[in-house]
Amino acid sequence: MGSSVASVFSSSLLLLALLSVVQAEVLFDSNLTTGRNTLSGAAPLIIANGGTSGLYPDQTLFAYQDALNTSSQPLALLCDLQLTKDNLGICRTGLNLTTSTFSYKYNVSSTYVVNGVPTHGYFSVDYMQADLLNPNFTTAVQPNLARSPLFDQYFPLLSPDTVGRVHLSSPTTFWLNVEYPSFFQQHPGKNSLASYLTDLLASPSSPAYLSATEVGILRLIGPTARRSRTSLILKVLDPDTVEQSTNTTYGTLLQNLMEIRTYASGILVPKNLIWPINDKTQYLQAHTNLVEDAHKAKLSVYAYDFANDQYPNSFNYSFDPIAEYLAYVGQADFSVDGVLTDFPSTASEAIRSEKTQQNSNKLVISHNGDSGDFPGCTMLAYTGAINGGSDYIDCPIQITSDGVPICREDANLIKSTDILTNHALWQTYYTSYAGFQNGSSGVFTFDVPWADISTLRARMYSPNAPETSRNTANDNVEGVLTLANFLQFAKSNPGIGIYIDIQNAVYLRMAHSLDVVDAVINALKNANLTSGTNKVLIASEDSSVLLAFQQSLPFLQRVYHVPSNGNNPDIVTLPEIKTFAGFITIPAQLVDPTDDASKNPTYFLAAPTQVVKQAHDQNLTVLYYFAQNEFSSFAFDYRADPIMHINSLVMYYNVDGIITDFPATAYDFLHRNQCYKPTLSTTSPNYSMLTVVPGAFFPAPADATAPTLQVSEPPISFQVPGGPTLSPTAAKSDAAATKMSLTLFSTLSLTSLLLHELL
Ligand SMILES: *[C@@H]1O[C@H](CO)[C@@H](O)[C@H](O)[C@H]1NC(C)=O
Ligand SMILES: *[C@@H]1O[C@H](CO)[C@@H](O)[C@H](O)[C@H]1NC(C)=O
Ligand SMILES: *[C@@H]1O[C@H](CO)[C@@H](O)[C@H](O)[C@H]1NC(C)=O
Ligand SMILES: *[C@@H]1O[C@H](CO)[C@@H](O)[C@H](O)[C@H]1NC(C)=O
Ligand SMILES: *[C@@H]1O[C@H](CO)[C@@H](O)[C@H](O)[C@H]1NC(C)=O
Ligand SMILES: *[C@@H]1O[C@H](CO)[C@@H](O)[C@H](O)[C@H]1NC(C)=O
Ligand SMILES: *[C@@H]1O[C@H](CO)[C@@H](O)[C@H](O)[C@H]1NC(C)=O
Ligand SMILES: *[C@@H]1O[C@H](CO)[C@@H](O)[C@H](O)[C@H]1NC(C)=O
Ligand SMILES: *[C@@H]1O[C@H](CO)[C@@H](O)[C@H](O)[C@H]1NC(C)=O
Ligand SMILES: *[C@@H]1O[C@H](CO)[C@@H](O)[C@H](O)[C@H]1NC(C)=O
Ligand SMILES: *[C@@H]1O[C@H](CO)[C@@H](O)[C@H](O)[C@H]1NC(C)=O
Repeated sequence: MGSSVASVFSSSLLLLALLSVVQAEVLFDSNLTTGRNTLSGAAPLIIANGGTSGLYPDQTLFAYQDALNTSSQPLALLCDLQLTKDNLGICRTGLNLTTSTFSYKYNVSSTYVVNGVPTHGYFSVDYMQADLLNPNFTTAVQPNLARSPLFDQYFPLLSPDTVGRVHLSSPTTFWLNVEYPSFFQQHPGKNSLASYLTDLLASPSSPAYLSATEVGILRLIGPTARRSRTSLILKVLDPDTVEQSTNTTYGTLLQNLMEIRTYASGILVPKNLIWPINDKTQYLQAHTNLVEDAHKAKLSVYAYDFANDQYPNSFNYSFDPIAEYLAYVGQADFSVDGVLTDFPSTASEAIRSEKTQQNSNKLVISHNGDSGDFPGCTMLAYTGAINGGSDYIDCPIQITSDGVPICREDANLIKSTDILTNHALWQTYYTSYAGFQNGSSGVFTFDVPWADISTLRARMYSPNAPETSRNTANDNVEGVLTLANFLQFAKSNPGIGIYIDIQNAVYLRMAHSLDVVDAVINALKNANLTSGTNKVLIASEDSSVLLAFQQSLPFLQRVYHVPSNGNNPDIVTLPEIKTFAGFITIPAQLVDPTDDASKNPTYFLAAPTQVVKQAHDQNLTVLYYFAQNEFSSFAFDYRADPIMHINSLVMYYNVDGIITDFPATAYDFLHRNQCYKPTLSTTSPNYSMLTVVPGAFFPAPADATAPTLQVSEPPISFQVPGGPTLSPTAAKSDAAATKMSLTLFSTLSLTSLLLHELL
């Protein structure tokens, strides 16, 4: 895209397009459920900040259309006013044109005094409106570097007159913001802002809401606004910032809400004036009384600064933007009257998300417990997972050098313990193995005896760092759990399922003479969890492990874990998997991958995949791994919205369960959120929440091939008489390999024949 912009967007077409889309079906039901404590008692207003500016360049046709297509009512489209040389308007944010537009033709830059500060840049007041609206002259670009630049230089700028017409054919309203009133009262000419606004408010594009950062212009335009029934809103900046027309700080202004009521019907405030965040801990503090106090003064309160991809944000929200909106609109005692957001579809989900019981048969399985909020595999994490609604809590099995099975997210202790603070310990064991984790160095559990590991403290691991880091407040609080501890804890929580993920069993047996399978079987027997009356799932990436369980503990359900980075040519097919497992885990890379990173990556979804369907054809229960809330963990298509990701996984891809670092988020959506409608099909016309379909943005190229399931296992599982022989490359450099005993797997001979058939 990008070359033939001009032919697509002549200005008359633009207007038509914006008007016509409004007549398209409105996807959301209009009866909203949250936020009954607004001043008017009506649902909170969703104010789309330049449309869906989280996805498209702001204040462009697609950004506004998308907001209309994916948001609930009441909805307002916001335009940030900049005046032009001919005293007309364009919609852009920031005085400097070059922050959000691109042009080879800008030929005038100036230095103006803005709020007392000489400021250099490319200003709209130096250009004619007709030039700035002409896509041959300038186009919009995405100013936020965390977002996709793919739509840059594609869309022309829009005028307030165009956006303001939205209400002519839809319940959606128009919100005009004036960020620099004093500047535009003097530029391009004297009294230019008041004169422009007087004309606009008398036109069919008159805004329903007009916000400004200054008292002076609000007072001046008051009589005109009364005639056009425009609500005037004071936009409040940082409390320490001086408001230009009164020469007092915004903090001082807010101390007299009755005074504000004399020139405005509402205030637009930074959200942290309502829910402050402790800078150090990133915890949410008690909310202020601003909303209640303003409502007593009959002032509406709109909050700004909402964006799904904001970081840092409070840890209390667990990286879930819905949780954040609900703090503002879902309280029993107060609600803001509106939220200004770059992602209006997510605000819509939140406003519709009143807790109701939903019957979902989708499984929620924790990954290292509630590891998004607490150090993984600790009591805190497991308790969080149970409280959050997990169907299963998981223990990823590692083993100590003396054979004690423990729960740890990785064999490398450096990843999530404090071992680096114990100099003697890590120096003793720091090493690498050519046959393990691609030869990378670490301190591995299988080298260290339990006596040493039991002295370590658990720490937070942040898989999406450096973009986002998780809460480290609970580091060093707990030690390492053994499998026996874990099973005992799980049994004390009736109804909770147990998910045992056996990792590296073949390598450990081959190279280190450690039998994880026997260790797990013994632990399960000791805990009396072998009968099948308990919910126990045994997962492994190695068929021989599952076969061993099939033989020795046949009542337990088995899960074939498809590794995310297998690179071995031996292929196990789905019908083969079905012979030893009822469940299969499939990594994100095979279900909803982003496009090929090796060629010009866009980080949008690649071609649709069939793997889940193929597994279903074999009657395998499909578990997706891993769902994470952090916006950087999934494709741009999901609009930085972890709920939209989960919704698409269950509605479009039809997975049966989700293995997640944030089990509470998945549970809340599947069981308590009206937006999830398990009984409606994706094609139902009144299905309200957007289900992302791959290729919606960029149809896959004709030669694109969807990934298929190419499960590969380690070269060979183990050497047995009559069985397949050891691959010469496996464990070659691992000293312990030669010491391998042939009788380590108790069930080995029983399964060898079956295995031989399989491979
Ligand atoms: C909204 O709710 C009211 C009262 O409960 C009902 O009369 C109306 O039909 C509903 N509207 C829609 C669009 O569902
Ligand atoms: C909005 O929906 C209309 C009607 O379905 C569609 O034609 C248009 O392309 C959509 N706009 C965007 C930006 O997705
Ligand atoms: C800048 O370009 C515009 C349009 O191309 C032209 O009308 C104007 O005279 C130019 N201004 C200067 C200072 O070159
Ligand atoms: C405006 O943008 C130009 C070009 O990117 C830059 O040189 C200038 O410093 C910017 N001015 C301000 C005030 O940001
Ligand atoms: C933009 O340029 C193209 C090709 O030069 C021309 O056909 C078109 O009319 C121009 N569009 C506008 C709005 O000036
Ligand atoms: C604004 O207030 C400050 C201190 O209150 C004062 O020093 C300054 O002169 C005032 N500025 C104007 C333009 O009145
Ligand atoms: C945020 O989380 C912290 C830690 O759990 C808790 O102490 C605090 O009360 C929470 N804040 C709010 C407003 O609930
Ligand atoms: C393993 O290391 C090789 C060589 O450094 C590298 O090319 C490959 O991508 C790595 N594989 C994984 C799974 O990290
Ligand atoms: C093991 O479970 C069985 C059946 O649930 C029960 O009868 C038995 O008492 C349990 N044994 C122990 C040691 O808990
Ligand atoms: C899957 O189950 C259905 C119904 O139980 C059965 O008809 C079908 O043959 C099964 N398919 C396979 C591949 O086992
Ligand atoms: C959704 O649509 C279906 C069929 O199109 C209809 O039967 C159902 O009543 C609708 N549900 C709601 C809540 O409007």
